[in-house]
Amino acid sequence: MSILVTGGAGFIGSNFVLDWLAQSDETVVNLDKLTYAGNPENLASLQADARHVFVHGDIGDYDLVLGLLNQHQVRAVVNFAAESHVDRSIHGPEDFIQTNIVGSFRLLEAVREYWNNLQSAEQQAFRFLHVSTDEVYGSLEKADPPFAETNQYQPNSPYSASKAASDHLVRAYHHTYGLPVLTTNCSNNYGPYHFPEKLIPLCIQNALSGKPLPIYGDGQQIRDWLFVKDHCSAIRRVLAAGKLGEVYNVGGWNEKANLDVVHTLCAILDELQPRADGKSYAEQITYVKDRPGHDRRYAIDATKLERELGWKPAETFETGIRKTVQWYLDNQSWVNNVLSGDYQAWLDKNYAGRAV
Ligand code: NAD
Ligand code: DAU
Repeated sequence: MSILVTGGAGFIGSNFVLDWLAQSDETVVNLDKLTYAGNPENLASLQADARHVFVHGDIGDYDLVLGLLNQHQVRAVVNFAAESHVDRSIHGPEDFIQTNIVGSFRLLEAVREYWNNLQSAEQQAFRFLHVSTDEVYGSLEKADPPFAETNQYQPNSPYSASKAASDHLVRAYHHTYGLPVLTTNCSNNYGPYHFPEKLIPLCIQNALSGKPLPIYGDGQQIRDWLFVKDHCSAIRRVLAAGKLGEVYNVGGWNEKANLDVVHTLCAILDELQPRADGKSYAEQITYVKDRPGHDRRYAIDATKLERELGWKPAETFETGIRKTVQWYLDNQSWVNNVLSGDYQAWLDKNYAGRAV
């Protein structure tokens, strides 16, 4: 038996694959399209490991997915594959519709066909776990309680709308066809292998390169941060013990304003790798034009996951962010390999014209 992980060369997916194989000998079949966000270097330590089978391909390729499910007698699918960056979805929503909606639909179709043909015991044991986001719930006001699983869906960006659509499809495949699904909706992750288009790795890298640290709008938008390995442990827990058809919110109870996060990064860098001129990296903070439709606040109520499945995050924001900064300092060659021509073109597209 084996599990099929999709998008396992991306940020969270590669952390999940590495953690899985550190704790289990069960084979991981890793299907990834290797978009700009997929990086085989994240999995370099598994190169000679027979328990990791990497397949370059698209979740929307029905025949490929069905073939892999049959060939490897897959007992569970964990679906990470997605276009994941909100700013990119604003500049060009098409890829988000194709992968997050159409791709998820085709993946579900292949899984449904495979599952229908399993023996009864295997059918009962099978799981499809869909990895989703807190952004499907929309934006909170300051005094609102954190998102619970019962909150209404109110996605505001093309990214979150496409994730919401895939969540609905997953739900419908359970309700209509009985497919044994689980859905997790997680808050903002950070940690090793985070692509430096996202706030935390972007600011670490820009700080070290002497570039501006771009703060959208007033920097008072709030995100709820979770160390990526805690997200991985939550997914393992839901996969092992989650109730079929249920949704579990995943979060670390770490609400922070963006500006505070960036000040924290600067303070850690000031300590670990001080600027040559003795000034603080905080001097590089620069306010830029806001993201259109920018959600003001996300916060996750993870009580259900904690109470019903006994999950708890291992890291606080303070311990996790320090580990993250240290990882980037220790892995500058990884960052330099990621900073290709395509990445530079993205920076020009997103940040040119944002000056205020
Ligand atoms: P990422 O962008 O770093 O990685 C996505 C991976 O999916 C890449 O390896 C990419 O090559 C692959 N991929 C894209 N399209 C594909 C396709 N059509 N077929 C196969 N592979 C494809 O994303 P991430 O941050 O690791 O997020 C993983 C998942 O977790 C996503 O579904 C995202 O919505 C969700 N999520 C992310 C966060 C976060 O803070 N990053 C939080 C909650 C949920
Ligand atoms: O909440 C979960 C979501 O978190 C995931 O579903 C997404 O895949 C993931 O990308 C992340 O979305 P965000 O939009 O919250 O993450 P990002 O790192 O892009 O931005 C975090 C906050 O920082 C957000 O309020 C926008 C702001 N920001 C971001 C960038 C890139 C800046 O102020 N400046 C920047 O340059």
